[in-house]
Amino acid sequence: MRKDFGAVRLDDFIQDLARTAGHIQKKAFHHTYSWRSKTGKGDIVTEIDEACERLILDRITREFPNYPILSEESGAFGVEEDMPVWVIDPLDGTRNYKMGIPFFCTSIGLVRKGVPEIGAIYDPIHDEMFFAERGKGAFVNGERISIGCEDSLEDAIVSISWVKQKVNRHTFLNFIDELSHQTSYFRRFGSAALVTAYVACGRVDAYMQGGLNPWDMAAAVLLIEEAGGMITDFQGKPIDIRNKDIEVVTANPKLHSILLEKVIRRDKW
Ligand code: IPD
Ligand code: CA
Ligand code: CA
Repeated sequence: MRKDFGAVRLDDFIQDLARTAGHIQKKAFHHTYSWRSKTGKGDIVTEIDEACERLILDRITREFPNYPILSEESGAFGVEEDMPVWVIDPLDGTRNYKMGIPFFCTSIGLVRKGVPEIGAIYDPIHDEMFFAERGKGAFVNGERISIGCEDSLEDAIVSISWVKQKVNRHTFLNFIDELSHQTSYFRRFGSAALVTAYVACGRVDAYMQGGLNPWDMAAAVLLIEEAGGMITDFQGKPIDIRNKDIEVVTANPKLHSILLEKVIRRDKW
């Protein structure tokens, strides 16, 4: 894939982009900046999301003027079926950011026909760069990572969340009800990309969510796959980053199949 991108080393480029956006976030964290509501009171965008996005888009369009882009705040530019698309979440976890909760990141992925090929997720507060390239493994700060080995729900830490406007609340309440017979180690982190990176490196055992966007998952899906994990929709099908409403269930292969069979695909719902 590299030769499509001329002299630019994509692995360095994408990590440098995510890190530079992270520096903007860290510098402004806990300081004053403007923000506004998007679709509702809890759904906000800040001046910092927009500054990070501007920086990322400027650098991509300078280096790769003809490449399509899909970015959360600016939308899609020139997206075509056959071209690889840059898919960007300039700040994932904006609500955490605004409330002063130090759990957020920048996520950048390059996706061909719905399948991510290279991706970076950077957490500026903990200075952690999660990076993956297809066929070459997943890493945090250059160290290889792999999915956890917890193989029973009894001891599993499970992150589960959903988007009120987009998914059926009862479905998720049923999942939680079923899971609560087995584990009470629930978490809700507030950054879909970063929690998925935590699953990829074994800090969290499983994550289930509905109502996600392509930019939440473009880099995250690749991290899980390259770390030896499974990530699918609730039917067990591969994630297509071109979809608008993405549901994910991710864990190591054993736990993933338990979640699909015992929790998600139960006959009673
Ligand atoms: C949101 C976060 C949140 C998830 C939402 C996303 P944003 O992204 O990842 O954890 O539950 O579905 O939209 O708005 O902070 O980029
Ligand atoms: Ca965002
Ligand atoms: Ca997001």
